[in-house]
Order: sequence, then structure tokens, then C-alpha cells
Amino acid sequence: MPVIAVIGAQWGDEGKGKVVDLLAKEAKIIVRFSGGDNAGHTVVNRYGEFKLHLVPAGIFSLQAICIIGNGVVINPNALIAEIDQLNQRGVDTSRLFISDRAHLIMPYHILLDGLEEELRGGKALGTTRKGIGPAFADKVARLGIRTGDLLDKEVLLERLRFILNHKNAILTKVYGVSPLSEDDIYSQYCQYGERLAPYIRETTIMLEEALNRGEPVLLEGAQGTLLDPDFGTYPYTTSSSPLAGGGCLGAGLGPIKINQVLGVFKAYCTRVGSGPMPTELTDETGNLIREQGHEYGTTTGRPRRCGWFDAIAAKFSTRINGFTRAAITRLDVLDTLPSLKICVGYKLDEHTIDYFPANVTALGRCQPIYEELPGWQVPISDIRQYDQLPLQARQYLARLEELISCPTGLISVGMRREQTIMKMPIL
Ligand code: GDP
Ligand code: IMO
Ligand code: MG
Repeated sequence: MPVIAVIGAQWGDEGKGKVVDLLAKEAKIIVRFSGGDNAGHTVVNRYGEFKLHLVPAGIFSLQAICIIGNGVVINPNALIAEIDQLNQRGVDTSRLFISDRAHLIMPYHILLDGLEEELRGGKALGTTRKGIGPAFADKVARLGIRTGDLLDKEVLLERLRFILNHKNAILTKVYGVSPLSEDDIYSQYCQYGERLAPYIRETTIMLEEALNRGEPVLLEGAQGTLLDPDFGTYPYTTSSSPLAGGGCLGAGLGPIKINQVLGVFKAYCTRVGSGPMPTELTDETGNLIREQGHEYGTTTGRPRRCGWFDAIAAKFSTRINGFTRAAITRLDVLDTLPSLKICVGYKLDEHTIDYFPANVTALGRCQPIYEELPGWQVPISDIRQYDQLPLQARQYLARLEELISCPTGLISVGMRREQTIMKMPIL
């Protein structure tokens, strides 16, 4: 039975939450493997509408175990609030587990995220200010505190004291702000530890046992490929890898265990935060897509930048993730448009190029070269069979599939779980 990685193929918010919720009906384990509460995964099912930031979108499937993997950075306050909200709305979270290796977001991470953004001035990255970058920086600098450390108050105090000295020196001497109180943070994190202790585990054993039993596993990606710190639009990226490769590291399983890599693509492009986006539309069509698709950030509420589908970026995404299937979401958002454009090349200075440049200054100068296709101009949200889609919609999808260079497994035509067309088996 398969292990499927569900990966954001663009700049995030592709609809991973919806796809994971749908596939989780058949899965035994769902693991979130990267990011933190910068993610916002929307699920609309029989329990209602949910915006999940840390809890895997598989939590609604009663047979499934959900794991927040070692690759995630956890704000315990945000996680407890999310668990409480789910419980209040009748969702059982007793099958949720947290890796004891996952790093914690601490108050100084959130403070520093804001201070660093202010310092960048006009070059601000537009982060979610959730402390993600500073927490991942501390992880690799070996200045992190992990969920497992919450289980031993002496260890926690020793670790916090050592690290907070260092952080307070930066806060006071570099940024000129007040130091943070060790007592306050310690007592707060002791409380979090007591609350979260039942969830904290060595999770790789659970995963291995499920794999040995041949049970289906989903790896739930956060963010999107073009926000990857290596392959994305660096430095306008996030700080952990949203790629399929990141799934192995962030969940704790070997690369050959993954059988299917599902790239989730919107039928157009969006981006939140700063950094180049060659197909961005700053005109009426961009506004129309934003309003039609309610394109406002799930985590921060910021308006998303909208633009045409970028097949150069998509091809790059397929290459570095090894997608075996694509999920195309939000096709219905394009219902009213008379014609649609797809970017099939870039004009960079005097040259035409067919690759995604590493350098953001070069990418920022890229002018999209478009192909134009007719729109379908009828509502498609109630369609459940591929061959019942209007001809123009099938032509658009066929061209996307050809350019993405992998077969389309599913097409999403609305936010609700059932508003989905299964074209080819995924599980
Ligand atoms: P994620 O971060 O990849 O999980 O995506 P978000 O939840 O941040 O953003 C995707 C948005 O699109 C959410 O509001 C979803 O409810 C919504 N959505 C997902 N699929 C579809 C679809 O096919 N059509 C429409 N109209 N909305 C969709
Ligand atoms: P999901 O999982 C869209 C963006 C931020 C910012 C950049 C860095 O919902 O798809 P960070 O706070 O991570 O340091 O911000 O990354 N970003 C996302 N954009 N969807 C997300 O997650 C994102 N997570 C981070 O807007 O540009
Ligand atoms: Mg999102």
C-alpha cells in the first residue's frame, strides 16, 4: 500500500488541506512534515469549515493517526488553541501525536521575526511573523528547544537559561528592546508541557510499524515548492523544505518508501508576501480572480497576489519533486473568464528562456510569454465526471497536464470535499 506525499507545487495555498482531507478517508497515518503555524490549510467537510495551522488535515478521518513530525516547528500556544477549537467543534484529537524531536517556537522567535522584518525595511520578506525563520535558524545553530525537552522541567530550565542569555543579549544590544523574563517563559512553557505531554512521542516507530503492516500513509506538505529555501525565490522563501525530499526528513522515513508524489497546483498562480512572480496580474483580471477565488491569506488575511498559470515554474516544480501525479485545484474560479493565459516561456532581457532562474533579480526581469486558450464561461462546481466538463475546460486541463509533465490524478472544482473529479487513481 502506498505512501503518498502531498506537495504544494507553487507558492503555497494550492489547496493541500482539501486534498489531504479527501485522501485521508483511506489513510492510516497522516504526517505534517514541515513549516509551522505559518501554514493555513482549509478543510470543508461534514464537520464544517476549518483552518488548520499545525494539526494535520487528516484529523477528521476517524481511523487515521495524525502526527506532527520532527520537521515542524511548533508554537505550543497556537497548537493548544487549535486542539481546543477542534474539540469544541466535536472533532476528536485523541489520535494526534507530536514528535519529541519537533522544535518549539519560543517568544523570542516571534519577537525577532518582527524585528528582523522591520530592519529589512523596503526589503522585508513579508513573513507571517509567526517566528518561523528564527526558530529554524536556531534549530541549525543548535540553539533550539524541542518538544521532548518539555517533558523534563530541569532540562527545560537549563536549556532555556543558556539560550535566553544569548537571545536577551541580541534583543537588548542589537535591537535596543527590553529583555524577556526567564521566569515568565519557564512557567508558561511548563504549563504547555503539562498540557501537551500526552501527545509527545517517538513517532518514527509508529510510522515504521504502519509501513510494515502495509498501511497507507500520507505526508502532508506545507507551503509550496517555490518557497523552498534552496529551490524557491531565495531570499523570498520560507525556512524549511516543502519538497517531497523534505517529507522524508521531516517525517522520518527513507526516500524509497514514498510511492506517489502528488503535486498540488492551482489552475492559476497566487503568492502572499514579497518576491518575484512573473505572471502576476495587477489589473482588473487579477482583481477578478482574487474576488472570485476569495484569495486572502488563511493565516494572515493578506490579499494574495494573483496571476496566470506559470508552466515554466510548474515544470521546475515537477523536476525537483519528481511528481507522479498532479492535483489541479480551483478550476471553478476561472468559470467566468472569456479567455485564459498560460505562461510557456520567459523573455529575459534579449533572450527567450524556458527555465526558472535561480537569481531573483533575473526572475524579476522575466516577462512571461503566453499562450491563450478560450474560457468555458459556465459553472463547473457541480460536475463530478471528467468527460462532463465543458470542452474548453478539458482543453485547458490537457494543456496544463502536458506542460506540468505528469498525469492529472484529480481536479478540484470547489472547496468542499466532495467537489472533486477523480481522473486517475491516486491511492
Ligand atoms: P493550502 O494552504 O494549500 O491548504 O490552501 P489554503 O487553505 O490556504 O487555500 C486554499 C483555499 O482554496 C481554501 O480557502 C480552500 O477552501 C479553497 N479551495 C480548495 N480547493 C478549491 C476549489 O477547487 N475551488 C474553490 N473555489 N476553492 C477551493
Ligand atoms: P500553506 O501551507 C503561502 C510565505 C509568507 C512569506 C514567506 C516567508 O498554507 O501553503 P515565513 O513566515 O514562512 O517566514 O514567511 O513564506 N508563506 C506562505 N505562503 N502559504 C503558506 O503556507 C505559507 N507559509 C509561508 O507569506 O512570503
Ligand atoms: Mg494555506
